[in-house]
Amino acid sequence: MKKSVFLTRKLHDFALEKLKRRYNVEIHSGKIPISRTKLQSKIKNIDGLICFPYDKIDRELIDRSENLKVISTYSVGFDHIDVEHAKQKKIRVGYTPEVLTEATADLAFALMIDVLRRVSEGDRIIRDGKWSEIFGAYDYVGLDLQGKTLGIFGMGRIGRTLAKRAKAFDMKIVYHNRRPVSKSREKALGVKYVKFNKLISQSDIVSIHVPYTKETDQMFNEKVFRKMKKTAFLINTARGKIINEKDLISALRKRTIAGAALDVFQTEPIDKNHPLIKMQNVVLAPHIGSSTKETRASMADITVRNLNLGINGKKPIYSVGY
Ligand code: DGY
Repeated sequence: MKKSVFLTRKLHDFALEKLKRRYNVEIHSGKIPISRTKLQSKIKNIDGLICFPYDKIDRELIDRSENLKVISTYSVGFDHIDVEHAKQKKIRVGYTPEVLTEATADLAFALMIDVLRRVSEGDRIIRDGKWSEIFGAYDYVGLDLQGKTLGIFGMGRIGRTLAKRAKAFDMKIVYHNRRPVSKSREKALGVKYVKFNKLISQSDIVSIHVPYTKETDQMFNEKVFRKMKKTAFLINTARGKIINEKDLISALRKRTIAGAALDVFQTEPIDKNHPLIKMQNVVLAPHIGSSTKETRASMADITVRNLNLGINGKKPIYSVGY
């Protein structure tokens, strides 16, 4: 008998065709994200689950499954999955790192240029018919990237790729990581390890590239913003909950820091009346770090390959837990 696979969203056609050849496939077609109640009922009898970052795959949900062998998430982040509990229940967990490294680093870099050079703000000015109001030679100036200090928090794949881009723009680069990278890697990237407090107090721009964990939860809060330069910018393409959003809004209002560019938020999508929407010194993106045609296709491919391995009791290509 064919095994059964449930997807909480549609994937690319090529990926669905591959799945349909081997399994009984059901795809959630209603409102996204799928409701908890529907997921609770679907998980009971399936062998494989393909999920997305907005689906909370916690202990209670995992315990409802009777045959589940693999959870394959279409994301590099797996903070939405109780990996420890899955491991105890011998359920494999696959994820999609590497393929989205360049796309995410590109977006972090794009956000940095945008907020420093005020590109999106300029776009709004034109669309609002206000170009003539910023016509003076000293009106509406941005900032050079060259010579600025970029502080990279998290020197994993994405952090390192961002460093390469910043080096090409003649920026100074400092970083903080649980452990410093090798000296040869530091030299090749042109980066210098500093303690967290130095990173936040020295940098003109701080870019976050760590996973969301108990340790990084709300790590960027009022205390941290007070230690940052008044002229500094914060970039986040990692996870929204790493920042205390209330504290950030207050720091931006009081000009404790100069601005922010954010691809991720505490709750997504953000409300249309969210205070960040009204702020001119903020660039907003709708969680599109990995969202290029090429990257998303590679993620779909890996998601299916991880599922194929895990459903047969094998270790996924990219595996967390066990
Ligand atoms: C990821 O893959 O974790 C990105 O945040 C996209 O969802």
